[in-house]
Amino acid sequence: MRTLVLLLFFSIFVNTINGSQFTITEATIDDIHRAFNGNQLSSRQLVDLYLDQIAALNPQLRSVLEVNPDARNQAEEADREREEAAAKDQNCRSLGELHGIPILLKDSIGTKDKLNTTCGSYALLGSTVARDAGVVQRLRRAGAVILGKASLNEWYGLRSLAIPDGWCARGGQAVNPYLKSGGTCGSSSGSAISVAANMVSVSLGTETDGSIICPADQNSVVGIKPTVGLTSRSGVIPISPRQDTIGPICRTVTDAVYVLDAIVGFDPRDNEATKAASVFIPPGGYRQFLNENGLKGKRLGVVREPFLDSYNGTSAIPAFKHHLNVLRQRGATIVDNLEIANIDVILDRTQSGELIALLAEFKISLNDYLKELSNSRVKSLADIIAFNLNNPVIEKLKEYSQDEFIASENTSGIGEQEIEAIEMMANLSKYGFEKLMKDNNLDAMLTIGSNASTVLAIGGYPAITVPAGYESNGMPFGISFGGLKGSEPKLIEISYAFEQATRERRPPTFLE
Ligand SMILES: *[C@@H]1O[C@H](CO)[C@@H](O)[C@H](O)[C@H]1NC(C)=O
Ligand SMILES: *[C@@H]1O[C@H](CO)[C@@H](O)[C@H](O)[C@H]1NC(C)=O
Ligand SMILES: *[C@@H]1O[C@H](CO)[C@@H](O)[C@H](O)[C@H]1NC(C)=O
Ligand SMILES: *[C@@H]1O[C@H](CO)[C@@H](O)[C@H](O)[C@H]1NC(C)=O
Ligand SMILES: *[C@@H]1O[C@H](CO)[C@@H](O)[C@H](O)[C@H]1NC(C)=O
Repeated sequence: MRTLVLLLFFSIFVNTINGSQFTITEATIDDIHRAFNGNQLSSRQLVDLYLDQIAALNPQLRSVLEVNPDARNQAEEADREREEAAAKDQNCRSLGELHGIPILLKDSIGTKDKLNTTCGSYALLGSTVARDAGVVQRLRRAGAVILGKASLNEWYGLRSLAIPDGWCARGGQAVNPYLKSGGTCGSSSGSAISVAANMVSVSLGTETDGSIICPADQNSVVGIKPTVGLTSRSGVIPISPRQDTIGPICRTVTDAVYVLDAIVGFDPRDNEATKAASVFIPPGGYRQFLNENGLKGKRLGVVREPFLDSYNGTSAIPAFKHHLNVLRQRGATIVDNLEIANIDVILDRTQSGELIALLAEFKISLNDYLKELSNSRVKSLADIIAFNLNNPVIEKLKEYSQDEFIASENTSGIGEQEIEAIEMMANLSKYGFEKLMKDNNLDAMLTIGSNASTVLAIGGYPAITVPAGYESNGMPFGISFGGLKGSEPKLIEISYAFEQATRERRPPTFLE
């Protein structure tokens, strides 16, 4: 028989010097800074609370692959810096929002420290990256504490279509904290689960197609998938420079925006894309768009088909209806029942050309990435395929195969077929999503769940997903807002105002 067990609350408080208690359950970055500035909490204490929570929950959830042996030292350093800053200004305004804040990184985001960067695979264990990823350099400069590495779908699920969501050889099967049988989605599963279960303040994920939006949706957290190029991909294990993007997964829109502000910007190591997208970054950053009245005057296009179908008969349908009314009450105009041209082609990765392009792009970009590693037993995709053949038990080769790897290895650069596929996707975007947005003069496209991710992925467009409720079995669902390139300011206004009006997220309870 199944019993419902609440989160273990005994380990998640600190008794502070002045007698008040700080709890990490649902603590936001603003809550934490208030506690820091009120001397109720140190960064070191905060790290200890999260490490205790990880120790308690990770045996069940398997969402954290490694904790950083230097996290406590980094936190103590942040505490010293805060003490110095406080001598000049009690509220430490000179320190950024992420100063002293623990962050978990998806295991494909390179760190040059004691942590491994492996995409969940044993093949890269023990190898050393040349330098921190571009986004990690920015996080360290902002004073964030690197708490550890999060689990993911091994190799983003690109090893084979049989790789289960949330599974990697090093971490095993990660679990949805709301519904054990519910599925975690992927590939940034560990990042989403860990913030959902209050094992860390904030996290980073990566997305090529759905990998931020989908696990955020299914684990009841906020995911921001930035416009491709807004955040640097340098030092991150790649799939496709055309589609890859790095973004925050957090419990609130505000926290996610603070992280976004810290990681966006030009990086000479991802020169072309970050230069092109840097024109989108507003002076003063993104936090100015955390506006409770952000829905006023916005035009939101609702695309129901085929995204609503899989929710037929569930409580997500009445919830969706209710949310549309809330959006209207807050001043948005809902343009309902819109359709995206060729949506069936877009959602079919073979027909759309996406799979053809990704398989060729992956081989090229992964081989480039691997060249820069030292102490690595694998230097190419071919080496990884051989590694898996030589380590079939730990890599579960029989169960999950490596068919997509083999198909990718079989490609030879961007040829005629790939160029055609890439043009096909550009055309699908132009006459599909872009046309929908422009014809209807929309600020955002609104869909339930995350199945619209492919529409946005193939064009490099941004999206934000926000928790929107729970089905009767406890399974979370979200609503995602997608927009044209560089429309993050509007998407933030919309998603923040929606979140403030609905406040659907709650921390998980576990089914044991
Ligand atoms: C990284 O992997 C090596 C094994 O090669 C292991 O000894 C080490 O503890 C790992 N690092 C962390 C922080 O877990
Ligand atoms: C879901 O419901 C809609 C209308 O209520 C219907 O058109 C559609 O076929 C249904 N889809 C599935 C998968 O049952
Ligand atoms: C390898 O590519 C060739 C054409 O380039 C194709 O005919 C063959 O089926 C591919 N093999 C695999 C295993 O994908
Ligand atoms: C692009 O899409 C439009 C509309 O669907 C179609 O008419 C046109 O033939 C397509 N062009 C190419 C090159 O695929
Ligand atoms: C859409 O998402 C749901 C739940 O995440 C899934 O069960 C369903 O298969 C998806 N449908 C399509 C058409 O991709």
